[in-house]
Amino acid sequence: MQHGPWIVRGLRAAGTTAALFFAGLSVLARDIHPAPPASVIPNPNAVVPGHGSFTFDSATIVRIPAHDPDARSAADYFADLMGRSKRPTPIVSGGAITGQARPAITFRRRAGLGPEAYWLEVTPQGIIVSATGGAGLFYGAVTLWQLLTPAGGSVAVPAQIIRDAPAYPWRGLMLDSARHFQSAAFVRSLIDEMAMHKMNVLHWHLTDDQGWRLEIRKYPRLTAIGAWRTPATFSPREQPPADSYGGFYTQSEVRGIVAYAANRHVRIVPEIDMPGHAQAAIAAYPELGVPAPDRAPLAVSAKWGVHSHLFNLEPATFAFLEDVLDEVMELFPSNCIHVGGDEAVKNEWQESATVQARARALGIKDADALQAHFTREIGRYLTAHGRRLIGWDEILRPGLSKDAIVMSWHGTAGAHAAAARGNDTILSPWPKFYFDNRQSSLATEAPGRLHIVSLEDVYRFEPRDPTLDQIAARHVLGVQANLWTEHMQTDDRVRWMAWPRAAAIAELGWSVPARRNWPDFLRRLVPMLGRYSELDLAYADSVFAVAAQVSPGSDHATVTLSNQASSGEIRYSVDGRDPVSNSAPYAEPLNVPLGTEIRAATFVQSDRVSQVWARRLDAPGLARRDSHDLELCSNGIGLLLEPVMGSASLGAPLAVDIMNPCWIYRGVDLDRPRSVTAAVAPLPFNYEIGADAAKIRVGDARTAEGELEIHVDGCDTAAIATLPLATAAAHGEVTRLPPVSLPRRPGRHDLCVRFARPRLDPLWALDWLEVGE
Ligand code: ACM
Repeated sequence: MQHGPWIVRGLRAAGTTAALFFAGLSVLARDIHPAPPASVIPNPNAVVPGHGSFTFDSATIVRIPAHDPDARSAADYFADLMGRSKRPTPIVSGGAITGQARPAITFRRRAGLGPEAYWLEVTPQGIIVSATGGAGLFYGAVTLWQLLTPAGGSVAVPAQIIRDAPAYPWRGLMLDSARHFQSAAFVRSLIDEMAMHKMNVLHWHLTDDQGWRLEIRKYPRLTAIGAWRTPATFSPREQPPADSYGGFYTQSEVRGIVAYAANRHVRIVPEIDMPGHAQAAIAAYPELGVPAPDRAPLAVSAKWGVHSHLFNLEPATFAFLEDVLDEVMELFPSNCIHVGGDEAVKNEWQESATVQARARALGIKDADALQAHFTREIGRYLTAHGRRLIGWDEILRPGLSKDAIVMSWHGTAGAHAAAARGNDTILSPWPKFYFDNRQSSLATEAPGRLHIVSLEDVYRFEPRDPTLDQIAARHVLGVQANLWTEHMQTDDRVRWMAWPRAAAIAELGWSVPARRNWPDFLRRLVPMLGRYSELDLAYADSVFAVAAQVSPGSDHATVTLSNQASSGEIRYSVDGRDPVSNSAPYAEPLNVPLGTEIRAATFVQSDRVSQVWARRLDAPGLARRDSHDLELCSNGIGLLLEPVMGSASLGAPLAVDIMNPCWIYRGVDLDRPRSVTAAVAPLPFNYEIGADAAKIRVGDARTAEGELEIHVDGCDTAAIATLPLATAAAHGEVTRLPPVSLPRRPGRHDLCVRFARPRLDPLWALDWLEVGE
């Protein structure tokens, strides 16, 4: 490890040697001009500005030492990134070049730096990237690409010296390929995107209750059976096709992905989850599970949530797991192997005579101690094969080997406890580093959890724990965000959830506190978003996206625009065309005549940094509020769900608390005749929530399929209107219910809109509610 102290030394050194360095430069006074600050993410840890600038053009060549494959690889990656960013692709030339008068970029070795550290020196005469290790050369290449692709496309790089090294050795992203399966091509592209941010660990969640995604030669049923399930999202009207959803990675594909990652200095840490999250494996090989003669054989689960089926503790099951780990270790050179350990509810173990007999034989008294035994056995096996065990923070039990790495997800308490007792640890706290949470309250967000974790929330997390002493603090290896994919059915959904929030993770992991600053990160993000666009990376624009509040009047509406970051310039148009960089700037709430279509977007100088928001201000549109605009009645398990698999690309997903599908529409004037129209959708209730299911109110329907009820001033009052769901149930997708009139009463009132339903499944969700005349 080389974080902390190295950086402090590095920064001091940069300050004292800068003057010496620049004294050696022959820079003419006329070259001196104020240079814009560099826009690199993650922010380099020491930058000393120089004088003048280096101009990159199609004649610039890249020189590398002869016979240096790392330098070749770094320089080729740089050239490739330039080409993909639609800039001139420089020629990379090995060995000494004589008579070379043209400005050049040189990659070279420099002794004495840490394995990931690099120096980058820009003078008007050229650029030198130097490092001791291959990773350092690679990160120098990434910084160079960013320096040469600023906002506005200038090719003049200000002279400067960058001396850089990461704060932490673990800058990770976890990809859950079990809940939804991504193609091998997608996994490679995610690794590439990580490398562009100097992220270096892909934690690959390959097995879970909903799928086993890794080919194991010795146990072919793991993928023949365990990789396939009923789709989890479907129209409840249809019988979903069994075993039709899935996929797995062949060993040959995995070897290719591991090599691709290694070329980008990304290590893949595979996760084989145990003893819980094991249902797919048990579906494939029932003898691995806890015996339950009265239970139907398990299928690969098509539900989300915490499942109750664990591996048993028989010697044959450990032999199976060791066989699996043999093949895992053969495929993945990572020095640590993740064995999960999370959310292993112990009911099965506690209730099983076989497991209890095994526990007695082992002299183990309680179920948590049994899991500790499980972890110890697996840890011993990994240690005997030269690897370290890593697991979620549930592994932190008395007797845990000092060699094990603890991934802290219950906040940061696990990391603190692990570091204090001398175990290495990774910060991966829920909810901030859980990227299945949405990024804003806008209707453009992808399906996921309703809790909002904004880019700023992620960025402002501070990995340094001031309560740890220096020795303990060195056990904090770094940070990792998790892409749990229950609700991310497509590659682009995963990308949307990942970027740019993972860029914030990259900076938390790389840059020391003094080099992290939210407004400055936002400034540097603008050119990064430009790079994403050039690379066709479908990132989330949530931080700059326009949020609108519309208050209707009799012939006008008042429109208030903002964005999450309160940053950039919002520009708008009312001529039916998209706003451009010289469209009217928004300054204060607009009074817009009804019938107008207003469009708006955020700009930073000439760059548009958000999608275009558009809305026609007419009476029906203003009377309609969709599920995002309404308040939920409760804060149980809030999700953004789509009615049919993959359908949300056609419209916004629906915001619903699955524990209580109920919404509030505030401030309705009931003094006038009012008619209510609603659009609703039945959704499969496919959640494993244990005893909490009994807390959900069902059985209060008056008709066979239930009703949408409208209440006034609270949800426990008698319903003032009911809209039967029979037609919508038969349709199975988003259905507009016939309008109903509301009884008049004086004043403005809040409407509570809830479903009365005969049973848990289907769950009903409201798409929108219109309160018209
Ligand atoms: C986890 O979120 N179950 C690690």
